[in-house]
Amino acid sequence: MKHIIDPLDLSVEEIDSFMDLADKILADPAAYAHVCKGKKLATLFYEPSTRTRLSFESAMLNLGGNVLGFSSAADSSASKGESVADTIRVVSHFADICALRHPKEGAPLVAAMHSKIPVVNAGDGGHQHPTQTLTDLMTIRALKKRLSHMTVGICGDLKFGRTTHSLLRSLARYPDIRFVLISPPELATPDYILDELREKGVPFQEVERLEDVMPGLDVLYMTRVQRERFFNEEDYIRLKDSYILDAQKMTLAKEDMIVLHPLPRVNEIAVEVDDDPRACYFEQVRYGMYIRMALIIKLLGLEEGI
Ligand code: NCD
Repeated sequence: MKHIIDPLDLSVEEIDSFMDLADKILADPAAYAHVCKGKKLATLFYEPSTRTRLSFESAMLNLGGNVLGFSSAADSSASKGESVADTIRVVSHFADICALRHPKEGAPLVAAMHSKIPVVNAGDGGHQHPTQTLTDLMTIRALKKRLSHMTVGICGDLKFGRTTHSLLRSLARYPDIRFVLISPPELATPDYILDELREKGVPFQEVERLEDVMPGLDVLYMTRVQRERFFNEEDYIRLKDSYILDAQKMTLAKEDMIVLHPLPRVNEIAVEVDDDPRACYFEQVRYGMYIRMALIIKLLGLEEGI
């Protein structure tokens, strides 16, 4: 039984095979419509979500399976003081696989240690978000036709943004990737991730101004400032509009650069950019569902029967 807690729980070969399966599903969804008949996915979400939870649920429904779960801690026995360890022991009797999001870093790992079913980390605090990374990689591979030989700009809240942490650590394993990390110094990438990049010899630079580096980017990954992780509102207000990607800044970018964003967007991408053909963040959501279909099939060991 395999859990997906950290993006590095999957080898590059496994990720490639997930994406290959997702491509096959995309090409012929009907062929996969009953693969998960009789199987159940539990979505245990202790933190708000639109895309990730609905993406997991629609993935399971599209495979002919069923879903159950809760969408806030207040709706679960956590509000009565139940531990994640006890909740997963119980849910193991009701479902075949579970996606868990929690505000505390490490909660999905604790769940996995007590679970009889595969646990997928759907975001833990300001730590990791491996299935958003699968979504991001699948989108880059589909739109750029490669996952190597690229300069990738990651912009915004690189301190608390769990999607940026997982993406950096995963993409760093592909050949000839250079990172440009664009953030205010207060929201810079955590040292443990920079150390990982240094150990692997992956080139990166940390800068404050987006305009200066725009022309060299093949991918620009925008993120929102993570209000819920701040200790005080004043700091959030001061930093929240650090970056606003608008049509003017897009004129500086390559013609084939793509703009990604895990969403939700707040202010960091002006709505006028949505009409630019390089704005791919809504398409990204679609790839997210297909890669989660592939993930569910693989973790439930159902690929053989297809
Ligand atoms: C992200 C998250 O929850 O970390 N959203 C998502 O899952 N697509 C990004 C965010 O909330 O800013």
